[in-house]
Amino acid sequence: MCMIMRQNFAKNCEQKLNDQINMELNACHQYLAMAYHFDRADVSSPGVHKFFLQASAEEREHAEKIMTYMNKRGGLIRLEGIPEPLPCFKDTMAALKHALKMELEVNQSLLDLHALASSENDPNLCDFIEANFLQEQVDGQKILADLIRQLERATTDVGDYLFDKYIQSAAASGGGALHSEKDIPRR
Ligand SMILES: [Fe+2]
Ligand SMILES: [Fe+2]
Repeated sequence: MCMIMRQNFAKNCEQKLNDQINMELNACHQYLAMAYHFDRADVSSPGVHKFFLQASAEEREHAEKIMTYMNKRGGLIRLEGIPEPLPCFKDTMAALKHALKMELEVNQSLLDLHALASSENDPNLCDFIEANFLQEQVDGQKILADLIRQLERATTDVGDYLFDKYIQSAAASGGGALHSEKDIPRR
């Protein structure tokens, strides 16, 4: 049955949106498995647990945002079975690298969806993806890349890593600023 308000919403855009919903739920499931791996007593990394748990909740939000949008456009939501997540990771570095790989795949899928929406002349779908997903993906990928580099330095160059932590907290408390507000030259 066709929704009476459905307009300018191509079948292949609907299909690709369903793929995206399932991809977000897959990421939600994988992050959940990762979160509780790092909560195990023989791993015990509460910070990493919390980080991945938050990431899992965000992916579920993404899926629901697209599901809400799908209903607004008059499409039919089709949820698929979620593949079994990778059960455990050698260490935090392996998990972070896996997370970045997964995010890059999700981002590629969003870019493909945007290209499809453009070719189908569907500005509403283009706008939805741009406004809600594209920048957030790039921001998240930068955070993961930063964490990977910081963890590398924490294990290979402890002094440099600790110095950066020191300068970061000094800057946050205002004590490490090179110039006070009034010294910054105005253009
Ligand atoms: Fe996502
Ligand atoms: Fe994500």
